[in-house]
Amino acid sequence: MSITIKVNTNGPLMISAADAPSVNLTDADGNVIPLPEGKNVFLCRCGASSRKPFCDGAHKSAAFDGTCVTAVQNLG
Ligand code: FES
Repeated sequence: MSITIKVNTNGPLMISAADAPSVNLTDADGNVIPLPEGKNVFLCRCGASSRKPFCDGAHKSAAFDGTCVTAVQNLG
C-alpha cells in the first residue's frame, strides 16, 4: 500500500484521513505521536506552529514561502 503525502502550496504536508492509520509518526526518540482519528493530518513545514509537528495555521501569518519546485526538479 502506498501512502500519499501532499505538499500544500505555501502550507503544511497533508496525510489523508484514509492513509493516516497506516502512518507511524514519532518524535526524535522514537516515541509515537498519536494522530487524530478520522481526520486529515497536517504537518507543519514552516516552523511557526505552536503545535509542532502539527500545523496550526500560523504559516498564513508568517507568509511562509514553501516553494519546492527547485527541489523537485533536482530529483530527476
Ligand atoms: S505549515 Fe502551517 S503552521 Fe507551519
